[in-house]
Amino acid sequence: MVAGAPYLEPGRIGSLTLKNRLVRASTSETMAAPDGAGTPALANLYGTLAAGGAGLLLTGHIYVEPRGQASADQPGLYDDGLVESMVQVTDAVHAHGGRILAEIGHAGSQTMLPEVGPIAPSPTANEMYGLQPREATPDDITDVIAAFGQAARRAKQAGFDGVHIHGGNGYLISEFSSPITNVRTDAWGGDAERRGRFVLAVYDAVRGAVGDDFCVTARIGIGDSIPGGLEPAESVERVRALAERGLDAVEVSYGIMRSYLENIRTYVAVGAAQAARNGLVQRLVKPEGPEAYYRHFARAVKEVVDIPVILVGGIRTTQTMADVIRSGDADFLAMSRPFIREPDLPNKLAAGRTGTVECVSCNMCLVHDGFDPLRCWRTSPAAVAAHVYTHHIRSRLPGRWGRGS
Ligand SMILES: Cc1cc2nc3c(=O)[nH]c(=O)nc-3n(C[C@H](O)[C@H](O)[C@H](O)COP(=O)(O)O)c2cc1C
Repeated sequence: MVAGAPYLEPGRIGSLTLKNRLVRASTSETMAAPDGAGTPALANLYGTLAAGGAGLLLTGHIYVEPRGQASADQPGLYDDGLVESMVQVTDAVHAHGGRILAEIGHAGSQTMLPEVGPIAPSPTANEMYGLQPREATPDDITDVIAAFGQAARRAKQAGFDGVHIHGGNGYLISEFSSPITNVRTDAWGGDAERRGRFVLAVYDAVRGAVGDDFCVTARIGIGDSIPGGLEPAESVERVRALAERGLDAVEVSYGIMRSYLENIRTYVAVGAAQAARNGLVQRLVKPEGPEAYYRHFARAVKEVVDIPVILVGGIRTTQTMADVIRSGDADFLAMSRPFIREPDLPNKLAAGRTGTVECVSCNMCLVHDGFDPLRCWRTSPAAVAAHVYTHHIRSRLPGRWGRGS
């Protein structure tokens, strides 16, 4: 054990004992087959991450029904026929002694694929895509809740160690939770209690499908980034209700946002020297982003519930990792972009490395989401050139040479 590194100590989430507090945060992969089936590429990604030493892996979001698909080549668990294809993913993780939870979600109105026919609590145009959803009928709502339960059952059958319900970042569950996107006046909206029914019903369906011993966690949008949106006090109360029902851990994030950049912030903890080493001239005209930007949400939840709290969002230095764990503000530390750049980051930290991670939060990975398989595009000049070609040039080419071909 490295002295002074509490993030390397084992921890527990529900029935799972995890070898350290380092969690690979959900990160969409764009590696599934067109119908959402698991692929060797997906299995290879998670096998590599498991070999890299993280205590827990959370998959990118997996859609629970076809109209909840967010982007192309996203994995799905909307049909029993997809279960077998996911076994290669969980096998690859378990072969390295890793643990993996399937993040199950529904995009609501926040989809890159308008052709899926998106539904949302109210017909409010999506803040990010401007997409006009159809208002979900009470039957639609019952169907989606059941689909979450069925997807959780399939995740368990496929060998996942648990499920992580995606209740944040502007997708369907956060749309039900927010007064901006839920202006219904029936049983599913109108006041805080009714806005909260959807996430509780999803949790109940999931728990009912997988049983008490299976690990069930959730990412919850604790507040919206938009004035007049969801207030943390309302959301923390909802987390308390979920914890009382048996939720095993909560990861804190934003709910409704105007841009992904509010959640996936640029140049976090990137000082001038690291910017210069990476040729990151853009950073010099933009300020360095603050670390651990949802720590206040984690603290607010910790004051009210005693289930483990997972902090995500801009965790970049071993000093901050140690400080967050020691302070008790959170129990686990989830990172997304640092693991794209360094899948073996936990092994490096276990070998004694300290300081700042290599990722410079440039967000080149993000602009390829839904178009190209997940990777870091800043690892070499050739990788940057591939990014420029793929993102800026190929997207302007017509027909089968163009993006998405
Ligand atoms: C390329 C990319 C894909 C992402 N996909 C998901 C996802 O599928 N589900 C999710 O809950 N968050 C997703 N996120 C958000 C991350 O989990 C995380 O909240 C965010 O990147 C901030 O953490 P970081 O600073 O460690 O990157 C994604 C982020 C990136 C960069």
